[in-house]
Amino acid sequence: MTTDILEQCRATLYANDRGGYTVPTARLYPFQWNWDSAFVAMGWARFDRPRAWQEIEMLLRGQWKDGLIPQIIFHAPSDDYFPGPNVWQTGHTPETSGIPQPPVLATAVRNVLQLDPKGHTHMARIYPALLANHRWWAEARDPNGTGLVATLHPWETGMDNSPAWDAAMARVPTTTTTEIQRRDTGHIDASMRPKAEDYQRFIHLVDCFRDTGWNAAEMYRRSPFRVADIGTNAILLRAERDLLFLAESFGTEAERREINDRIARMASAQDTLWDAQKGIYVCRDLSTGTTMDVATSAGFLPLYANITTHAETLAATLTLWLEHARWLIPSTDPRDHRFEPKRYWRGPIWAVVNWMISDGFENADMKPAADLIRKQTRALIDSVGLYEYFDPTTGAGLGGTNFSWTAAIRLIMAEH
Ligand code: DGY
Repeated sequence: MTTDILEQCRATLYANDRGGYTVPTARLYPFQWNWDSAFVAMGWARFDRPRAWQEIEMLLRGQWKDGLIPQIIFHAPSDDYFPGPNVWQTGHTPETSGIPQPPVLATAVRNVLQLDPKGHTHMARIYPALLANHRWWAEARDPNGTGLVATLHPWETGMDNSPAWDAAMARVPTTTTTEIQRRDTGHIDASMRPKAEDYQRFIHLVDCFRDTGWNAAEMYRRSPFRVADIGTNAILLRAERDLLFLAESFGTEAERREINDRIARMASAQDTLWDAQKGIYVCRDLSTGTTMDVATSAGFLPLYANITTHAETLAATLTLWLEHARWLIPSTDPRDHRFEPKRYWRGPIWAVVNWMISDGFENADMKPAADLIRKQTRALIDSVGLYEYFDPTTGAGLGGTNFSWTAAIRLIMAEH
């Protein structure tokens, strides 16, 4: 059985390979996505190391001069997805969207390099690109040096319709200058996807950013949505620690000092997002200064960034969640009235999030919690297949099928 599923994972990556980059799944997501590809590179590295490096190099072809690594790289045209390059109009070659995604890449590069030490030959190109990207995050998204980077669009968090964004998104107008022509609901049942009103607001933000000419400072100033996402911040802090590791071999003393300074600032800022009453980290609305009154799976991610102060309480919170949902880890607290077990990021389980949180518990020396998450993730995938996400109340597979990052995580989790 294990061999079969691993064979299926490898076959899925081959099937989703479009010549050097891997689409998340056919039709629904026909381009290269930033954080998908970082996880997928770790998956490729388990059986085809040159192909893992190629995935990373292809992603970096989309990097902008200012250091941004965009959320989507449109290497080849497709009518299967909205919004395409004609909506973004970023003027980049290859065409790209104009916003980031959670910066998993430095972590992936370190992971791939550990499996393939000979890969150091790629680092002359990759290390400076990662450093430029982390500088972009600091300058474009934390211009006041607070230690928390801002998210300007829910798509940047990868957790598009999380209830964490409800209050802040309610202030974003639903008017758009772009005509909305959704393709996703032609591929997937609408009950598993964001709602029409979510898309109106998503596109309102894209229109607003395009009107700035994709100027990072103007986007930061004008965006009607500006939040500190605990997920993005924790993932970036982990990536900074992995970049520091890479800088030991490939960077300069001054760069190591620079990265260390950011790490110190970010680690103490993330402490301020701890919600003692909820027993989990939460997000903050940077426009109002208020914290988001909802617990999501992203709130466990500081563990993945090696912040272990509240590890015991986080494990207790996870146990409480498990009393209300059969499978771990629901993307929203299953006791919350906004929990929807089938709708995208409002309740379903995502394998990549499970991997990051299990890695976090492992870092915190809490092996039983890490093992439980991994065991459940493997059991879900092995019994229902390589789905995009899973219903935490029934274990049913949801969203896209033959999903690349689910395959990659299953390959990685085979090692535990
Ligand atoms: C989508 O289109 O659903 C994606 O999540 C955006 O990255």
